[in-house]
Amino acid sequence: MRRAVIAGNWKMFKTVKEAVALVSELKKSLTEADDREIIVAPPFTSLFPLSKEIKGSVIKLSAQDCFWEKEGAYTGQVSPLMLKDAGCSHVIIGHSERRQYFAETDETVNRKARASLDAGLIPIMCIGEMLEEREEGETFAVLETQLQGGMQDIPVKETEGFIIAYEPVWAIGTGKTATPEQAEEVHAFIRGRLEKAYSRTVAQGIRILYGGSVKPENIDALMAKPDIDGALVGGASLKADSFSRICQFIRAC
Ligand code: 13P
Repeated sequence: MRRAVIAGNWKMFKTVKEAVALVSELKKSLTEADDREIIVAPPFTSLFPLSKEIKGSVIKLSAQDCFWEKEGAYTGQVSPLMLKDAGCSHVIIGHSERRQYFAETDETVNRKARASLDAGLIPIMCIGEMLEEREEGETFAVLETQLQGGMQDIPVKETEGFIIAYEPVWAIGTGKTATPEQAEEVHAFIRGRLEKAYSRTVAQGIRILYGGSVKPENIDALMAKPDIDGALVGGASLKADSFSRICQFIRAC
């Protein structure tokens, strides 16, 4: 049984003060559970303050992006080593907003993934098709390209813990969630591709999260699907009550 992961991507929201207040609120309602991991991904500025705030709690820390070099004259960039040092265990890579607005490509995603693994961070690698691509029947081809490109030259031993987030672009921030059936179909496809690229054991171990308008109202139905191992949550992770309800999703028996 794969351990579920619920990760909150705060995007460009919350000052340090607001971030600390949210995590201190979350800590009150979230308790240790063997079957799930909880992660928050605040903006860079709140990472270090939150690394202190999460001590002794179940909450883990992720960055929303990184650069692939360890250090150097790269104004504005932050390295995986620095993120690790600031208290992160995870890093989101290749989010569709970065692909759309900041020219992220499968090649840069791959460089970031490999650099993160080298620094001891677990990548949460995002892939997802746009609405036109889905309508043209290109969903699987697009995802296959993103998956192959992003995981290029990542050896089997580095795949342990690796997380993939399937986020259909048309479902992000739109209130339009993929149905559990639509998401499951894609998750099963992704797992099949991982099995082909690596092995059945590797494919069975990698967690595949769904992201795109996840809410307290739809999390239980999504988590009832066998290949959906968790969620990457945007808007609904910005409030303690909605995020903690999502974290406390109820598994269908
Ligand atoms: P929403 O949950 O706001 O749709 O955002 C999803 C997302 O982009 C998480 O990374």
